[in-house]
Amino acid sequence: MARDFLNLTDAGGDAVAAMINDAIDRKAARLGQPKGRVDADAPLAGHVLAMIFEKNSTRTRVSFDMAMRQLGGSALIMEAGSTQLGRGETIADTARVLSRMVDAIMIRTDDHAKIEELAHYADVPVINGLTDLSHPCQTVADLLTVVEHGHALPGLQMAWLGDGNNVANSLIEAAGLMKFTIRLGCPEGYDADPAFIERARAAGGEVVVTRSPQEAAAGADVVVTDTWISMGQAGGEQKVAAMAPYQVDGALMALAKPSATFLHCLPAHRGEEVTDLVIDGPRSAVWDEAENRIHGQKSVLLWALGLL
Ligand code: CP
Ligand code: NVA
Repeated sequence: MARDFLNLTDAGGDAVAAMINDAIDRKAARLGQPKGRVDADAPLAGHVLAMIFEKNSTRTRVSFDMAMRQLGGSALIMEAGSTQLGRGETIADTARVLSRMVDAIMIRTDDHAKIEELAHYADVPVINGLTDLSHPCQTVADLLTVVEHGHALPGLQMAWLGDGNNVANSLIEAAGLMKFTIRLGCPEGYDADPAFIERARAAGGEVVVTRSPQEAAAGADVVVTDTWISMGQAGGEQKVAAMAPYQVDGALMALAKPSATFLHCLPAHRGEEVTDLVIDGPRSAVWDEAENRIHGQKSVLLWALGLL
């Protein structure tokens, strides 16, 4: 069974919960083993994932590769610029060819319409490794990290600070599916995607939009931020100035619950969206979060191939 994972809604809340549980179990079962050792059941033995990159990546690239190895399969990397896709071969034809050669496709690209087109023409699962619109695999790792750090998802209070970007959109989607509250502290002009906000509210999540970073952070269980200028964005001094009050520093973290966890998908721009003291501090879970990209994506891969 081929299932696409372009956004969390493709899976739904029950499947996302199953992904988190399976990731917890698989992570525990291989604790202390060499990172490249195959899980005992090798559920993806013989399977190959093609990874297409139209943007830079460290975590997504390495974690998908390691996820496939641990599941008993393998992955190959296609830097779009050195493929025929980069010379104008159509997405549709690329999808048709890759579907004959590999078992699943992961793509990191800019325009979300491109991944939708790829998924439309591919016969194998297509997984979103980040688009300008969303980053659902990051959210699976984030939710896993939140649960591991002792927070229950239903009723969770999450604060997002800074740019209402792709990472924010997927967390908003999660708020709807997993029934939690997300307070978005974003400057005017940099709000998250309204369609994601509406969809999350319709699904039963609480989404609060505020211009006050203090209001967003107050009483939060989880405080999340990301770069102010995403890959492919223009940025500039005006945006940095608008974002400055939304920096996650000690004062903002002091407004969150004492048990609050700090998350950042990384890469971080220390001294911009977050201070060293916060990201290196005792409430930061960013290294667990990065590692959890492997464990979360194993669940995504199993779900996409109909094995979860
Ligand atoms: N968080 C994340 O997706 O990191 P990379 O850009 O390094 O893949
Ligand atoms: N919002 C960032 C996330 C990087 C993992 C970007 O799109 O560049």
